[in-house]
Parts: sequence; C-alpha cells; structure tokens
Amino acid sequence: SQLKAWRSAIIHCIADPKEVGVEQAYEYFEDGMLIVKDDKIQAIGHAADLLPTLDCDTLVEHHPDGLITPGFIDTHIHYPQTDMIGSYGEQLLTWLNTYTFPEEGKFHDKTHARDVADRFLKELLRNGTTTALVFGTVHKVSVDAFFEASEVHNLRMICGKVMMDRNAPDFLTDTPETSYQESKELIDTWHNKGRLHYAITPRFAPTSSDEQLKLAGKLLNEYDDVYMHTHLSENKDECAWVQDLFPESKNYLDVYDQHKLLSERSVFAHGIHLCDSEYHRLHETGSAIAFCPTSNLFIGSGLFKLNKAEEHKVNVGMGTDVGGGTSFSMLQTLNEAYKVIQLQNENLSPIKSLYLATLGGAKALRLEDKIGNLAVGTEADFVILDKKATPLLSSRLALSKGIEESLFVFMTLGDDRAIKATYSAGQCVHQR
Ligand code: GUN
Ligand code: FE
Repeated sequence: SQLKAWRSAIIHCIADPKEVGVEQAYEYFEDGMLIVKDDKIQAIGHAADLLPTLDCDTLVEHHPDGLITPGFIDTHIHYPQTDMIGSYGEQLLTWLNTYTFPEEGKFHDKTHARDVADRFLKELLRNGTTTALVFGTVHKVSVDAFFEASEVHNLRMICGKVMMDRNAPDFLTDTPETSYQESKELIDTWHNKGRLHYAITPRFAPTSSDEQLKLAGKLLNEYDDVYMHTHLSENKDECAWVQDLFPESKNYLDVYDQHKLLSERSVFAHGIHLCDSEYHRLHETGSAIAFCPTSNLFIGSGLFKLNKAEEHKVNVGMGTDVGGGTSFSMLQTLNEAYKVIQLQNENLSPIKSLYLATLGGAKALRLEDKIGNLAVGTEADFVILDKKATPLLSSRLALSKGIEESLFVFMTLGDDRAIKATYSAGQCVHQR
C-alpha cells in the first residue's frame, strides 16, 4: 500500500447547515493536507500538523492556488441525452416527443451507447462530478454499456434501464414482464459489483401502465438496497395528465406510493408542484428529491421550494438533469440554484450549496458512510479547484474575504475550467 498527500486549502461539509448552523457545518483548512492510503482518506488536517507525520519518501503534491473539495454528486442525470443538450423552444411533454424520444431511440445499438457513455463520463469528470444517479434508455444494452464504461475508471455510479410501456413511440416501449425481467437481470449482473449500484427506473407515471408500476414495486421490494429513480411533479401539464391517467390517486406522489415505490433509496427528480401531504410522505418514507435548477429554468418547469423540503425534513440532492439541464457543471448548477432561491425572496448560502452538491447528495443516496466528504476512512473521491483558472476568477477571488465568499465566487463564475484535477478512489481521473 502507498501513501500519497496533497497540500492545499481544503473545505468539506460535516453536517447540514440547516441542522447545526453554518459555522458547525463545515471544516476549512487554509493550509491543509489530505493524506490518502490506497483508495481511502487516511488523514485530513492542517499541513503543519500532518507534514511531520509523513515518511520522507511520501509524495506530497502542493497546490498553493488550489481548493480541495469532495467530489460532486449529481443525483439526477440522463446519459443518453448528452448529445441533445440545449434543444430549443419546448416545455416538458413536447420536448420529450420532439427531441428526447428520437435521441434515445439510438441506444438499441451498443456501440453507440458505449461511445456516448465514454464521452458522458469524461464530461462529468472534467466537471468534478465523481458519483451520479443516471437514467439509461429502455434498452438493456444501454445500461450494460454505461456500467462497463464506469468500471474502467472505478467510479461509484448508479444507473438503471428505463421502464416504459405506454405513451411513447413503439421503438421505445417495453412491456411490464420484459421490463421486470430485464431489470432483474441487470441487478443480478451489476448491482454492488465494485462501486456500481442499480436503480429501478420507471421513466415517470405517464409512460407506465398500472401493471408495470406494480412490477417495479415488486422488484424494489425483492432487494434490500436497490435504488428507485423516477421523475415527479415537474411540469403543470404533466401533473394534470397524471391526474387524468390515475384518477384513483390522491396526488402525483400517491401514484408511486400505491405501487410501493417509496423507500429510503427512492429518488424523485424535480418535485416542484407538491402539496404538504406529498412532502410529508417523502419524509416519512425517507425518499429524496433531486433539485435540478438549470433544467427547471431551461424547460420552464418552475421554481423548486427548498424551504418546503427543509421544513418537512425531506432529503435533497442536486441534479443537473442533462439534457433537460444545460450544464454538466455542478458549480454552474449551484449558480442557477442560487437564482431560483433568490426569485422566492430567500438566500442559498454557499455552505448550504456545497452541502447539497456533496454530503447532502450522499445522504440522499444513502452513501454518506462512503462518499460526500473527506472524513477519515471514506473513499478518496475529491476535486482540486484552481483559484487562477481564469483572469476574472483570479482577480475576483483575490478580493474575496474569507472562504465562504471564495466558495460563492467559485459557484458564480466557475465551470469546468475551474476543475484542475478530479480523483476517484485515490486515482487521478481528470487533469487540466
Ligand atoms: N420526465 C419524463 N422523462 C423526462 C426526461 O427525460 N427529462 C425530464 N427533465 N423530465 C422527464
Ligand atoms: Fe430528468
């Protein structure tokens, strides 16, 4: 086994600022040191304290203009939508029919799927994202291709085959039975293989029959620790359609609830137009919401109510929702999140933002023992930000007072250029 050390400014969250207050929610080392043994964090602290503990032959990488953070966690993204990012002019239901479904049709071809998966993962790593909860397409091979590509970099990734048996083109539909069977086969092949996990992935209520949702719930309850990943209450027309399609249900979430799809490992993208009883039920079941600001603005869905989620103690993580979202960058996603909260006359603090993009995401995915911060014994997934990445970032950071303001500047001006290097399980997976 080999030790490696990084000397730089370091920041990470240790709790939710909502629960313990901002000051108690993070640790910051202005001249810090991170020591990694194999794939895990061995020590974190002040360089002055940790330098003397190192053998003289231990490699120390010094980044005087760096800021180390945990790797970012994207709790909702579609890898097959990589090449249709920035599709013009539509809201959800028309956007799906016009752009998304034709694009996803290409993923019956495994060679195509693997090509996109490789480029998708490179893009995530360029942006400092080391873990993501990812939609495949309806095609089983799309998920094989994604996991095979993830294995190459030893990334902690979660993915699933889309289940959809109605209200979509024939070339993109499965049946309740084939979706159950193929999902089960994928679970048996990939779930908990290395750092990989499986998510049962019904696209959203309108594209699944009652029978399909029922089988999805049955499958979820056959395993202890498989995920469930879907969309919830994103767009007003979508919500009205769900009411029509499921007249027996009390509300949108209740469609999933009645099919036993709410669990501690269930993640619902968006959750914009929810009533109090839906927040309450999400809390009760330990389910999480993925907040996807760039998507919610770009396809005109609405403003996520973070205060409501907090009030009801619902777990929240950040999602880019590419290709409805417009950036792979978690920094840019937090920039838009700040504006979404501003439009509701509230503030999103930089420490809360960092929390949502790291430890909060890990908690939403029940992975906080493994990833999400730089605590000793956790997996060495981290990013080195570059304070000198661009002239503007450099001059603006030079004038910022304290780490909280610096972090906010990174989140406002930063993007892939600010990511100097990305590490997964102690190995460098991206370097600028
Ligand atoms: N709802 C159902 N499918 C999708 C999708 O692909 N993207 C988004 N943003 N919402 C959806
Ligand atoms: Fe989505």
